[in-house]
This record gives sequence, structure tokens and C-alpha cells, in this order.
Amino acid sequence: MPATGLLRTVWTQCNELLYGIRTTADGGFSHARSADSYAGTATAAAQFGDNNRYETPDYFNLRWIRNRLWREPTARDDVIYDLGCGMGRVLCVMASRPFRKVVGVELFEDLAAAARENARTMRGRRAPVEVLTGDASRVPLDEGTVFFLFNSFGPETLTAVLASLRESLTRKPRPVQLVYYNAMHDEVVADSGCLELAAEERTRNGLRVTFWRRSA
Ligand SMILES: C[S@@+](CC[C@H](N)C(=O)[O-])C[C@H]1O[C@@H](n2cnc3c(N)ncnc32)[C@H](O)[C@@H]1O
Repeated sequence: MPATGLLRTVWTQCNELLYGIRTTADGGFSHARSADSYAGTATAAAQFGDNNRYETPDYFNLRWIRNRLWREPTARDDVIYDLGCGMGRVLCVMASRPFRKVVGVELFEDLAAAARENARTMRGRRAPVEVLTGDASRVPLDEGTVFFLFNSFGPETLTAVLASLRESLTRKPRPVQLVYYNAMHDEVVADSGCLELAAEERTRNGLRVTFWRRSA
């Protein structure tokens, strides 16, 4: 393993120990290496079959995003959704601050179960965590005020999720934010007409992160 790969592994494992969670494919989830859920095999459970494989952001970058959200004046009232939550790393990092609630939505039940277990056992949890199994385009979004998205699905599901969010905002107008990590389909968000681009940043490893808002 090259030195940078080794360092990354050690860094990740230190963070997993710190939070008391296991979110890597081989960390207590060995069957996942060949499982459909880990490989991102297209599944009939996904309305458009454009689900992506499981991967998860670096802890450093996630804490940067969590701190940015936590600095918002109304952060304690926020309900943060991770759309495509995998094994729950994002959920656990967010739940280490007392946001009102953190909600994960995951297509595959085995990944959702791992996320629930991580949320249950994590060290230093300060927000309730709920994990729903299902397609992000079909779950109710009315509670959400912050939506996090990282490479979960293609433009078709993203379009449907944003249509669902638009309906939710019509039913229940409220300020919302979208954090789009590794923003591959920004044009879909812009075309949805329900969110405005508020900021654009880069992670330390060069991934583009776009921040979208809608005021009440
Ligand atoms: C790149 S991973 C991101 C995992 C998690 N957000 C994180 O950052 O640790 C994408 C996840 O989205 C899930 N996913 C894909 N399509 C989905 C859909 N339509 N609804 C819900 N989850 C989906 C995948 O199964 C996978 O676990």
C-alpha cells in the first residue's frame, strides 16, 4: 500500500475509533465487498435504477461541513437529511452536535441496518438519529431543513427528489439548505427552480461542494 494510502487508512481508523463506529466496507461489514448494496448494482427498489455504489467522505471534510452548518444561527432547529446515507458516517458526524434531528434515507436495508447500529453505538451522540429504508425520491421530506447529498444517484432520481422537495416546500414553506458534496449535477439543482446557489467551495482533496438555499 502506498504511504498516502496507508496514512489515509490510519486516519480513517483513528476517526472510527473516536466515534466508535464502523463505516468502511470491511469494518464489520465484510459481506458488503460483494454485496449488491456495496457495489451499487441497479435495483428495482430504486425508481430509476440509477443508484451509485457505497462510498463515504473523509472525516476531515465532513467535520468542516458540520461546523459550517452548526455556525448557522438557527442550527439547533435543523433536521438534517442524508439522502443515501449508506452506513451512516455523515449521520454520526452530524449527530455529534445537538441539531434537532438527523435522518438517513438508504435504499438497501443492510446498509440502513449498519447505519442504525452505528447511530446507536456511537460515542458522543447529541442529536436523535432516525434511518429510513427506501428510495429518496419516495420518502416524505417535510421535516427536513438541511439536505446532504454525496454521489448517491444519477440525474433522474435527483430530479425526482427535487420535485418532491418543491412539493414539500409548497405544502410547508420553510428555509432549507442543500449541501451538494462532489456536485456532479448542479444543473439539475439549478433547473429545479426551488433553490438558489449560495456558495461554492472545494474540499482539501479538490472535490467541489455547492451550498444551495431557499429562504422562507
Ligand atoms: C456514495 S454513497 C454515500 C453514503 C453516505 N451519504 C456517506 O456519505 O457516507 C451513496 C449511497 O446512496 C444510496 N442510494 C443510492 N440510490 C438511492 C436512492 N434512490 N435512495 C436512497 N439511497 C440511495 C446507495 O445505496 C449508497 O449507500
